[in-house]
Amino acid sequence: VANPVLVEQVRDLFGPKVDAVESALVAHLDDCPPHLREPALDMLSRGGKRLRPILHLLCADLAGHRGGRDVTYACVFEYVHVASLLHDDVIDEAELRRGGPSLNRKLGNTLSVLVGDYLCVKALSLAAAAGDPAITSLVSATTLQLVEGESLQELQSGRMDVGVDECLRVIELKTARLMAAACEAGAMLGRSPDGVTRAALREYGLRLGVAFQVADDLLDYSADEDVLGKPVLSDLASGKLTLPAVLALETGDARVRRVLARVMEDRGFERVSPDEVVDAVAAAGGLDAAARIAREAADQARAALVDLRHGPALDALEYATEFAVARSV
Ligand code: FPP
Ligand code: MG
Repeated sequence: VANPVLVEQVRDLFGPKVDAVESALVAHLDDCPPHLREPALDMLSRGGKRLRPILHLLCADLAGHRGGRDVTYACVFEYVHVASLLHDDVIDEAELRRGGPSLNRKLGNTLSVLVGDYLCVKALSLAAAAGDPAITSLVSATTLQLVEGESLQELQSGRMDVGVDECLRVIELKTARLMAAACEAGAMLGRSPDGVTRAALREYGLRLGVAFQVADDLLDYSADEDVLGKPVLSDLASGKLTLPAVLALETGDARVRRVLARVMEDRGFERVSPDEVVDAVAAAGGLDAAARIAREAADQARAALVDLRHGPALDALEYATEFAVARSV
């Protein structure tokens, strides 16, 4: 598991609940046709960090929720996330996911998209059936934002002039809003959901999500394929600049511009190797600048927690801000 300490902390806090989420992730698919259910369970059983369910459980606990509704919503957020990964892997033509062959490689694009469709709509119908219209609205609005983020990223494809703000906007929409929603929905389950806790946890999730995605983009430049479970610099090879490259280009360094332009033109590493790219982006300060942004976002996430009730759930949320930037997978 990629974040054993976080999982262990959460397990100590409410182990049975984490197990209940794992069972519910399977049980909610009982009525799913087998040809969709099997690939869906294959994806779900490959682990993953379960970050969104964990955030939701922690925030619900912090807000004073007692009962089991958080288990259902934890599944809602994990299904939306997995659905988006299935679609993302088709869009990116990814070969690997979570250390194994991606579903698109195993079953083709069509079934991958359809399993993703199924999980996404299953998530929304589970939310609707759970009966809190405000949370249902939050989940559907957030899912639309994921689509907006991913489509904006697609429009940026092939462009060398993507700005830092544009890049951060995509990060916020495609990743951070879902984490923010997982946290905010947890707050909304609280005994007397007050606006302050809700806003604080939404802000926490948003900043954590930014830190997490920037760290993810940095890993693309630092980890190797075996550690990462997917090829390095794959976004770049498909013509998409992520934050480290955008920041490196901002410095006006001629070498990094030349190196990146070649990969973008070739849609691959024919003329420059991945090592040369990493080297040029690092030399132009892109990696340090991105690491600073991740660190700042993690600090902002932690700062959002200051007025909240102290206890083990808050400790775990604080720890998650460390994990978001220090993780290796
Ligand atoms: C992974 O990013 C992808 C996302 C964070 C969001 C993808 C969103 C969609 C495909 C649209 C929404 C679709 C549905 C069904 C809700 P990445 O490519 O940076 O990360 P990776 O390296 O893990 O692939
Ligand atoms: Mg991808």
